[in-house]
Order: sequence, then structure tokens, then C-alpha cells
Amino acid sequence: MLENVLEIGERPEDLVVYAARGKAARDWESYSRIVASLKGLGEDETLVVQSGKPVAVFPSSPEAPLVVMACGNVVGHYATAEYFDELCDRGLLMWGGLTAGDWQYIGFQGVLQGVYELLQAVVREHFGGSLAGRLVLTAGLGGMGSAQPLAIAMAGGKGIVVEVDPDKCARAYDRGHLASVTDDLDKALALIAGGEPGRVIGLVGNAAAVYGELADRGVVPDVVTDLTAAHDAVFGYCPVDYSLEEWKARRELDPAGVADRARRSMARQVEAMLKLKSGGSVVFECGNNLRVQAEAAGARKAFEIDGFAARYLRPLFCRGIGPFRWVALSGELSDLAELDRLVVEMSFRAEVEAWISLARVHVMTQGLPARSCWLGHGERSRFAVAVNELVGSGRLAGPVAFTRDHFDSGGMTHPHIGTEGMADGSDAISDWPILDALLLAASGADLVAVHAGGAGYAGYMQSAGVTIVADGSDAAGQRLRRGLDADSGLGVLRYADAGYTDAQSAAIGAGLGLRHEREERTWHVS
Ligand SMILES: NC(=O)c1ccc[n+]([C@@H]2O[C@H](COP(=O)([O-])OP(=O)(O)OC[C@H]3O[C@@H](n4cnc5c(N)ncnc54)[C@H](O)[C@@H]3O)[C@@H](O)[C@H]2O)c1
Repeated sequence: MLENVLEIGERPEDLVVYAARGKAARDWESYSRIVASLKGLGEDETLVVQSGKPVAVFPSSPEAPLVVMACGNVVGHYATAEYFDELCDRGLLMWGGLTAGDWQYIGFQGVLQGVYELLQAVVREHFGGSLAGRLVLTAGLGGMGSAQPLAIAMAGGKGIVVEVDPDKCARAYDRGHLASVTDDLDKALALIAGGEPGRVIGLVGNAAAVYGELADRGVVPDVVTDLTAAHDAVFGYCPVDYSLEEWKARRELDPAGVADRARRSMARQVEAMLKLKSGGSVVFECGNNLRVQAEAAGARKAFEIDGFAARYLRPLFCRGIGPFRWVALSGELSDLAELDRLVVEMSFRAEVEAWISLARVHVMTQGLPARSCWLGHGERSRFAVAVNELVGSGRLAGPVAFTRDHFDSGGMTHPHIGTEGMADGSDAISDWPILDALLLAASGADLVAVHAGGAGYAGYMQSAGVTIVADGSDAAGQRLRRGLDADSGLGVLRYADAGYTDAQSAAIGAGLGLRHEREERTWHVS
């Protein structure tokens, strides 16, 4: 999994996987020491990794995690973007993204279904269930952002994706995800106007400039969002008054100056998004801290833009439905096909079947064959245990790793992403992901990680990651059931505790909570 995240990462030569500077290991020496440690690791031992650097192997037990990690954690008062960067420069810390530092990244597919599910929720609420004929304006074609064109096309909409780097546009075009690439806004609009559903155009340009131009012209796209790496004002967002080359050169020489210009550009982009919103566009932030950065640079109304999780995805998280994923460690496409077949055969929900049919056709393989699939509490463990039996019976060519994005019901506290606007005001309480990690370790998950935000996410984020491998053994079956149920179960309980009735019903239905209170069939609200 470590090698896989680098193979499909954005800048493997720098150990960077995605999210501007999200790394898989602190440096190459740490990488080599991690690999050597993993190769010699016994079943009754645990490797400890601190921000991408191996610390030690301790004796544990066959029921304990093989790897535990903490990445990017700095105590509250010190958790600023500037101090975080200083600690990284001194070689003491690393930004591990969500799934880079704990080797769970599966390429753009990791966010593909998230964007797709988000668009589905948007069309259900605003467009009578269909995106056909609708225009989505967004930006960023990086590691995660490159999922956007395909998600828009799969949802049946049309799109313009603004990207400052022509190479990123070319990559998306070569993958077949863009119908055309141009640096001319008029041409992009003409191509969209005459195009069929599913047509997405890459527009080489700066989002701050293009969004402003569209707002000034009175062009009102149906949906407006953004997936530049806005959380990182130095390495993630190109200021509007810099060319790509100037940005790359100056961010090393003058990080503070670049950050200041980038934030002012983000404010300009957000002002344009607000103007488009008042013109009738459905506008939301997609989880990149754009509003925080823009507000810091003077966009006072930035938070009149909705956050995607609170506005559209929370009902799913209340049922423990979120970005679950599996990876065929054999590398065989036939294993992935068998897993696709099995998850459809298990008939969890119509949405799952629809997603798998689309994914089979549209999602290319990056690195080890993998599938993102938003399963819920109980569904995840039932599926994983069934897969473990397939591995045990020899019907698959190798073991299967089960994991998820940290942006999940139990996995993340981020007051401007997953836990924005919680019903009880518990947005910033990070006990939940920490409890999640502790519980996962207690349940014997193979890899457990506690991450905190770096760069512009510093001070805003705490999350937990987990990987459990189905190797076909009975012990693995027990670990999968315990670990996956604990993870999604705690997620449901987190929302139930906050007062969401959907989550309370889900918790009661699944028998979650304190054993002696289960019979009461009521919820104890704090
Ligand atoms: N919604 C989610 O669930 C989710 C999941 C993962 C990551 N994220 C966040 O999404 C963001 C993007 O992640 P990524 O992995 O794609 O980052 P990345 O660094 O790989 O890509 C960012 C892209 O934005 C482009 N860009 C920068 N400034 C621009 C500008 N002004 N105009 C147009 N294009 C510009 C860059 O050239 C680059 O291609 C990050 O902030 C990340 O933390 C969100």
C-alpha cells in the first residue's frame, strides 16, 4: 500500500501523493527504514510511525495493529499553518493529507464517488433529480480534483473545469475525461452550449479571474464549486497575478508573500462565487478550506457559501454511509471484477448497484485495482467478511485491503468540512476521531492512524484512518467484523449524540450504544 500510493501519487520523487504537499513518508531515509521494518515485522509486533518516520517496533500480540501512526499532530495553541511549515522545514513533522501518510490513497477514484454522491444530493434537492442540461463550474485538476470531470459526466451534466496548469488539463484529456481543452473562455462557453450531456471542458486559466469574468458577464452556471488545493496558500493555490512559472519559482523564495497574494485571489474568487449565488447558482465549498482563506483576506461573507458536508452529505453520514474502499492486493483485475460482482449480488441498496455499474464502465485503474464504494454501517462488515471467505476459499488471487477516506462519519472532526454546523454545536470537538482510533486499535485493525491538518488545515482538523486486510483467515474475519462495525458504529453514534434523529434511529436499529439501555428504544441526548 505504501508503494502503491507513491506509484499513483502526484510527485512521487518528492514523496508527495496529493493535496498539494500530502506525503507518504517524511523523507527517503524514513521510507527505506519503514520498508525494511515492514519486511521484518512479526505478526505479534507493532511498528510505530511518527509523522512519516519510523520510531520502533514493539512486541504486541497477533490481535494488535501491525502499524500505529500519528501524523501532523501539534497541540492546539501551536497548530498554525506557519508553525506547522516551520516544523516541517526542520524535518520534525509531515503533512500526511488524509490518506497519503497512512498509505490508503487510491487515486482520483477516492474522491470520485464523493463528488458523484454530492452531485446526486444537489440534483435531488434543486433540479428534480437530473443534472441533464445543467452546467457545473469548478476548478482544479490535481490528485483529487481530477475526479471532477468524470463525476460531472457520470451524473449527466456539462462542465467547465478551470485549471492553471496546462499539463494537468492535458492529463485529464488523455484520460478521456475532458472533451476538449482551451484557454479561451468564449470558446469554452460555445463548446458547452452546443454540447451533449456529459461534455466537460478544461479551461486553462486562473479560477479567481475566470469566476470573476463569468460573474461580471452575468453568466450563471447551475452549480459552482472549487477543488483547487486552497487549504495550502503557498503550494496549493496560484495567485491570480502570477503565471504558473512565477508561482512555482516564488513559493520557495517568498512563501509569506505568495500566501498573502493567494489568499487575496481566493477572496476575489469567493466574491465572484457569492455574486453567482445571488444570480441563482447553487454554490458550495467542497472541503478545501477556501472560505476560511478567503475570509482571512477580507471576503466577509465567505461563510454565506454552504459547506458540502453539512448541506448535502450529512444524512448519509448519519447512517454510517461514507467513502469506504477496497484494494485487491494481488494486483489482478479479475479480483476487482469478482468484488464488484459480489457487492452487487449482496443487494445492499439500489444506489450501490447503480454506482458499481457506472464505476465498472468509467473508472480506470490506477495502481492496484481498487474500488471506492459508499457502504453504510453493517454493510461494510458484512461485505468484508464475505470477501474474506472468498480469499480463504481461493476464489480470489490474493488478499484484499479494506479502508476508507478519513472524511467519514466517525473519522473526522473539521468544523468547515465534515462537522460543520453540527446540531448541538460540537463542530470542533475532536474526541470522536481520537476515540475512533483507540477503538480501532482495541478491535485489532491492522493499521490505525491519527492525523491532524497541515498547512491551511493546521488547527482545523483531526482525523483517524484505518486499514484491515482480509487474508482469508478466521482471525482476519473477526478483525474485519469488529473493526469495521466499531468504526462506522461510532460514526452513527457521533451523529446520534449530536441530536440527529436519522442517526438515532440507525443506532437503535443496529443495537448500538450501552447494552443496558438498548431495550428502552429511546435516545439519550446529552
Ligand atoms: N471533498 C473531499 O472529500 C476532499 C477529499 C480530498 C481532498 N480534498 C481537498 O481538495 C483539494 C484539492 O486536492 P488535490 O489532491 O486535487 O490537490 P492538488 O494539489 O493535487 O491539485 C490542486 C490543483 O489546483 C490547481 N490550481 C491551483 N491554483 C489554481 C487557481 N488559482 N486556478 C485554477 N487552478 C488552480 C493546481 O494547478 C493543481 O492542479 C485540497 O484542498 C484537498 O485537501 C477534498
